[in-house]
Amino acid sequence: MRESNAVGYLDDKHEEIEALCAKYPSRRSALLPVLWMVQNKLGWVPQDAMKEVGDIIGVTAAEVYEVVSFYTMFQQKPTGKYHLGVCHTLACAICGAFEAIDYIKEKAGINHGRISDDGRFSIEELECIGACAEAPAMLVGETLHGNLTPASIDKILASCK
Ligand code: FES
Repeated sequence: MRESNAVGYLDDKHEEIEALCAKYPSRRSALLPVLWMVQNKLGWVPQDAMKEVGDIIGVTAAEVYEVVSFYTMFQQKPTGKYHLGVCHTLACAICGAFEAIDYIKEKAGINHGRISDDGRFSIEELECIGACAEAPAMLVGETLHGNLTPASIDKILASCK
């Protein structure tokens, strides 16, 4: 059960969470989908949300943090409305990932840190995302875009309304 000092990010998800927990032999098995709920709602997983998730699922905040910090798909910092994860590992680097990153930052208005001035975009450099044959590649949320060029980047950014 959640303690009284928890923040309440998931107050509107109680039934959904209970339905999820009922699908598994133990409540802790619902940890990943519940963390997805938080990330889908907030765009990231704040530390006080990790505590709340732990209280609901019945694990410690440290155990939740272990999972959040293990999977790079969970964001531990605020993101823009659209989060761009650009691969910068070898195949993508050779095929122009760093030029693509500079171009994206310029076009998206990311001048300081990792979030654009208007909050629409955030950017993160990722290790190999498994699309080496389409290098350079990036994820926009969960959608893969490969063979990035200035023209394709323009199209992708324009489609992010
Ligand atoms: Fe970029 Fe594999 S190196 S997708």
